[in-house]
Amino acid sequence: MIDNNRKLLKNQAQMWDKLAEIDAELATDGLQHYNPHYSRNNNEYIQTLSGYFNPTAGKKLLDIGCGWGKTLISCGKEGMECWGLDISQVMLSKAKEKAEKDKLKIHLSLGNAAELPYKENSFNIVWGYAVLMHLPKSKAKETLEEIRRVLKSDGSAYLHFKNRIHLMSLVAWVISFFRKLLNKPISPIEIRRYHLSEIKKIVGKYFEQVEILADDFMIFPLRLTFRVSIYSDLFLTGVPKIKPDSLFNLLPTHLITLVDKFYDFLKRFANLHFPSLKWFCRDFIVIVSRPRVIK
Ligand SMILES: C[S@@+](CC[C@H](N)C(=O)[O-])C[C@H]1O[C@@H](n2cnc3c(N)ncnc32)[C@H](O)[C@@H]1O
Repeated sequence: MIDNNRKLLKNQAQMWDKLAEIDAELATDGLQHYNPHYSRNNNEYIQTLSGYFNPTAGKKLLDIGCGWGKTLISCGKEGMECWGLDISQVMLSKAKEKAEKDKLKIHLSLGNAAELPYKENSFNIVWGYAVLMHLPKSKAKETLEEIRRVLKSDGSAYLHFKNRIHLMSLVAWVISFFRKLLNKPISPIEIRRYHLSEIKKIVGKYFEQVEILADDFMIFPLRLTFRVSIYSDLFLTGVPKIKPDSLFNLLPTHLITLVDKFYDFLKRFANLHFPSLKWFCRDFIVIVSRPRVIK
């Protein structure tokens, strides 16, 4: 069992290294990378983050699965003390390079989210975006336990989860059915999805306060690609490749802009006025605080 875990971790690290070598930004952002409304520059990204927490100077931030350092660098520029952990050495080298270019001091560690190399009660904010979804559910639970340990008693963690009740779950299920039929190996970084009630149950075990927000309301993809996405390549062939030219929009650009705005409206409506709608969003941000004292 321990050997299987080590083997999976090694495969995951190798895959992320490979993806980071090809294109770290596309590897972390996925098809979002091609969304013109996606927050690309620092100011826009800080605004997006501020929708969740205040990047206050002097506060300690830990980014789990930090990738090339997007969050660490933006928060570092706001004066936060930044720590980042990632399983991929190549991702961390990119983060180090970018931080040095901006003359920022960030603390980077190579490691596994489920075994955090930090003392208990260390961080005001823990951020984990698009990382728990790549872990087997048992490892995601261990990671939550670790976050509970390293978070300060008055701190909060902001964790991204993928929703199971979504069209993309069905697509993923069909792809994995055919992969099994064709005897193709499952990607070591396949995506795990959760029901809202499942998240409440798992997370509630470690934190007294849990708030679940809709993060993205994409219902149907607006941009498609045959071979562009390293993710879809992974699913189809197991080999990451990028051919950006093959990206195409499913609707004219002005309609995509409109539909993007509609998705954004749904997200705000669900979060502010109609919580039941959250059941159907694509992504959640789960805000947890008041780590439980476990004796
Ligand atoms: C989709 S990327 C997201 C990166 C970043 N959080 C962002 O939003 O830009 C997932 C990141 O998690 C890292 N990762 C995957 N499994 C991990 C694990 N078990 N422990 C730590 N990091 C992991 C990958 O190397 C990769 O950098």
